[in-house]
Amino acid sequence: MSADLRVRVEAIVDTGPAGEAGAVRVFDLRPIDGHSLPAFEAGAHIDIVVREGLVRQYSLFNAPDETHRYMVAVALDAATRGGSKHLHEWVECGDILIVSAPRCHFHLVEDAPFSVFIAGGIGVTPLWAMAQRLLALGQPFSFHYGARKAATAPLLDTLRETLDTNGIAFETAFEADGGARLDLARIIANAPEGTHFYACGPRGMLDAYVAAGAVRPSETIHLERFAGASEAVTEGGFEVELARTGGAFTVPAGQTILETLKSHGINVPHSCAEGICGACECRVIEGTPDHRDSVLTDAEKASGQTMMVCCSGAKSSRLVLDL
Ligand code: FES
Repeated sequence: MSADLRVRVEAIVDTGPAGEAGAVRVFDLRPIDGHSLPAFEAGAHIDIVVREGLVRQYSLFNAPDETHRYMVAVALDAATRGGSKHLHEWVECGDILIVSAPRCHFHLVEDAPFSVFIAGGIGVTPLWAMAQRLLALGQPFSFHYGARKAATAPLLDTLRETLDTNGIAFETAFEADGGARLDLARIIANAPEGTHFYACGPRGMLDAYVAAGAVRPSETIHLERFAGASEAVTEGGFEVELARTGGAFTVPAGQTILETLKSHGINVPHSCAEGICGACECRVIEGTPDHRDSVLTDAEKASGQTMMVCCSGAKSSRLVLDL
């Protein structure tokens, strides 16, 4: 994890029935020394050391011009590896947490003629930071928010009030309340030319969004995933050479590049280990990566200049990395 910061849990606000799947807990994190926190870009996330040995990523949803606090929302999800459960059950107001400086791989095009945000459940968080940024800039956008139930939809009241006050089109869809799903094809088709689209939510919604967005220029279709979209490359059988520190290692079958380097005592910064946070990004000096991450854009992947070593492999027999 990059640069450690110590923050105090100033406040906790619950949405939905505590302890039940789908319940959302909002954490207001403040610097312990009264100084400012590092500034962040709309769409950024931080790593939180949930407990020793367990680091998870959470998007910042407060306005990006705030440096006195970081706000994150954590949905209780029985299917996760324990990060949300621990934050829901064990963390209390006044606790000190270790977090990273913010990182951003989900960039907002601030001067687009129009923007469309499509949120699914807890995926609303990075999009809400982006929307607040566009509000501050006076840029036009619409916001479309789907969730299972209104009662557990994170930040719903805040969004409704702020967007209504500012005259921003706000569409909601709550399936378990008898509503339909967001009609992604319609939303995308109805947006004016030059619109940039941003989506974050569950995998099925994002796959449908990518399919619906195929009618638009690919550079206008932005998304962030909370879980890796592809399995890591573990076929092995290629060599990794480290240009700066020296050493060459064969990646064996059953291991990722990151695992191989760790087994040789080489410490590469990393966090999620599933291709979604960008912490393990390395510059590629020679060779062709086999990309499996959800961080780089298609154009960045095609350029082959960098790669995520936690999940991506090699199409060539040898990779030279700037490590
Ligand atoms: S560690 Fe998160 S993308 Fe590799």
